[in-house]
Parts: sequence; C-alpha cells; structure tokens
Amino acid sequence: MESIRKIIIASISKNGIIGNQNKMVWKIPEEIEHFKRTTIDNYILMGRKTFESIGKVLPNRTSLVLSKTKAENSKNLYYFDEIFKVFSFLKENSIPKIYIIGGEAVFLQTIDFADELILSFVKGIYSGDKVFPMNKLDDFELISSEEKTQFVINKFVRKQQISRNKK
Ligand SMILES: NC(=O)c1ccc[n+]([C@@H]2O[C@H](COP(=O)([O-])OP(=O)(O)OC[C@H]3O[C@@H](n4cnc5c(N)ncnc54)[C@H](OP(=O)(O)O)[C@@H]3O)[C@@H](O)[C@H]2O)c1
Repeated sequence: MESIRKIIIASISKNGIIGNQNKMVWKIPEEIEHFKRTTIDNYILMGRKTFESIGKVLPNRTSLVLSKTKAENSKNLYYFDEIFKVFSFLKENSIPKIYIIGGEAVFLQTIDFADELILSFVKGIYSGDKVFPMNKLDDFELISSEEKTQFVINKFVRKQQISRNKK
C-alpha cells in the first residue's frame, strides 16, 4: 500500500460542505472538466452512495466502489467490501496511483493515509449534510494554488514526518 500514491480529489465550499441529500450542491462545468482531466485514464475509488449519485461508470476510468451491500462487477467497475482489498487489487495489478473521489465516509476513512489532496475550494457558502474533514488539512502542506472564476484549485502534499531520532 505504501508504494501506491493515494490522491484525494474533492470540491468543497468555503464552509466545508461537499454534498446534500446524496447529491452535489453545485454544478460548475469548469470544475467538472478539471476533475475529468485529472482522473482520466486512471483508477478512481468511491463509496457506494457516491457511485449511485453519479449514476453511471465514468467513461475512460476504472471505478472501484466500496460497499458491503453490493458486489455486481461489470466492465470497468469493481466492488470491494473492505478498503485493504482495494489496495491488494491495485498492487496485484501494478497500478501506481488511485484517485479517491468521495464521499464523506470515504474521505474520512482515507485522509489519514492520503499522500496528496487536490481540493477545489468553491467560492460561496452552501448548506448541506456532508462535509470534508477540514480539521486534517494541518497534516498537509499547500504546494500550489490555481485561481479560477468560481473556485480555487489547491494542491497539498502530506507534510514530511520529522524523524523521532532527530535531535
Ligand atoms: N464535493 C465532492 O467532491 C464530492 C465527491 C463525492 C461525493 N460527494 C457527495 O458526498 C455525498 C455522499 O457521501 P456519503 O458519506 O453519504 O457516502 P459515500 O462515502 O459515497 O458512500 C458510503 C457507502 O460506501 C460504502 N462504504 C464506505 N466505507 C466502506 C468500507 N470501509 N467498506 C465497505 N463499504 C464501505 C458503504 O456502502 P454500503 O452501504 O453499500 O455498504 C457506505 O454506505 C453525496 O452528497 C455526494 O454528492 C461530494
């Protein structure tokens, strides 16, 4: 698992909202395009609810879906009932990186071992019932910021662990 790069990609409102009633709260074509461009030809990991909310297998990507209630694999769609099985699958298939695309439950379970975050901060305050674990951002260092009209793409990498032996 260590060698597989784990990249969280999300769009988040200023107040930390990512979704409401199993839907996205905004529809920003430029942000969707950025998501598509970033994840195209790669493996994406999501929770069952996000998959159902999207409603289809996204083209030109391989979808890995976490669920303990569903397991109907099909073309470019694989279900897993445990996170560690996802990483075994990626390792067995020599896949070097995975984009973790949500939702709240999956971000919460993966942020502590994510290597990188690609976060679109959407301008504006929205209300919703799902949030991003913003309290974990302190574990990451901002490496770039790209301003768009309706959002800002901030890229973060995990801060280097300071060696305990270092005096
Ligand atoms: N703004 C963004 O970037 C963004 C991105 C994605 C989603 N969203 C939003 O987030 C919301 C959905 O988030 P959510 O937290 O409700 O749902 P979710 O994370 O998409 O899916 C949760 C489901 O995933 C499965 N699951 C999660 N962890 C698992 C594990 N360790 N092992 C096996 N199965 C596991 C379970 O499915 P079963 O119940 O089948 O067992 C669980 O009910 C929606 O509003 C969506 O629009 C926003």
